[in-house]
Amino acid sequence: MGDLITMDDLTNKEITTLLDNAERLLPIAKGEVHLPLLEGKVLANMFFENSTRTRMSFESAMKRLGGSVLNFSSAGSSVAKGETLYDTMQMVDGYADVAAIRHPRQGAAQYTADAIDIPVLNAGDGAGNHPTQTLLDLFTIREAHGTLEGLNVVLVGDLRYGRTVHSLSHALVRFGATLTLVSPDSLRIPSEIVSDLTADGAKVTETADLTATIDDADVIYMTRIQKERFPDEDEYSKVAGIYMLTASDLAGAKGSMIIMHPLPRVNEIHPSVDSTRHARYFQQAFNGVVARMALLCDCLGVKIPKKVK
Ligand code: CP
Repeated sequence: MGDLITMDDLTNKEITTLLDNAERLLPIAKGEVHLPLLEGKVLANMFFENSTRTRMSFESAMKRLGGSVLNFSSAGSSVAKGETLYDTMQMVDGYADVAAIRHPRQGAAQYTADAIDIPVLNAGDGAGNHPTQTLLDLFTIREAHGTLEGLNVVLVGDLRYGRTVHSLSHALVRFGATLTLVSPDSLRIPSEIVSDLTADGAKVTETADLTATIDDADVIYMTRIQKERFPDEDEYSKVAGIYMLTASDLAGAKGSMIIMHPLPRVNEIHPSVDSTRHARYFQQAFNGVVARMALLCDCLGVKIPKKVK
């Protein structure tokens, strides 16, 4: 694998291999085993938009494997002097072996990949895609259910602007999941994504009613309403806080059902859910380290031993 811009850059077999490798790397992510597979390699963490998990888990992944990290934020950089994305990334091509990029503009990761030689990993491009998040999401689902096939997955919230669900929905249908898409009318998933999802016969249902989906769900994936992507505050205030799961909503849920969220949450999941058997979002965030470790090894051509010890 070279660049990872959307999930279309990976076959199902490649995804499965990455998830298997991520599983083998767990002892390193937990700090139980030290194995410097990426010693001498440099990751450029290029963040033109805010991040906690993606940025830190990329950094943790690289450092746990003995590599080093150049951290870039557009604030405080020469972007403020007018330097273009193209020029900025030319420097990165010479300073690092691989780049993760987050940018508010959809398409910026592909633009960057076309402009430089080192592998580019899309860490979120506007309302476009977030494929490295999808890898950790798939890892989390497989960890809980032992499979990705035949699951009933409910995606909830801002499906219009939420890049995590754009990438995840594509991957899930490729692995045979049934999708229920829950959103207010104004935040429905783009129609071209629904067309893509259903083109190969995937079962996809759209509704605005979260409550009716809970009891049959294997996974409920909550998302934040992406305030920063709304053209005006009034439109945001019409949908802010529209879905909020509380522990009492889960009385009829399957025992094995997991609740996920890419985080940060604003008020989509009440803290009363945190202590239930269903809460999986903090484990999900941890899984970002192993998923990104596997990805970094893959794009840097580093083989992971069959047994990590
Ligand atoms: N899940 C995710 O992308 O979180 P951050 O915005 O904190 O990176």
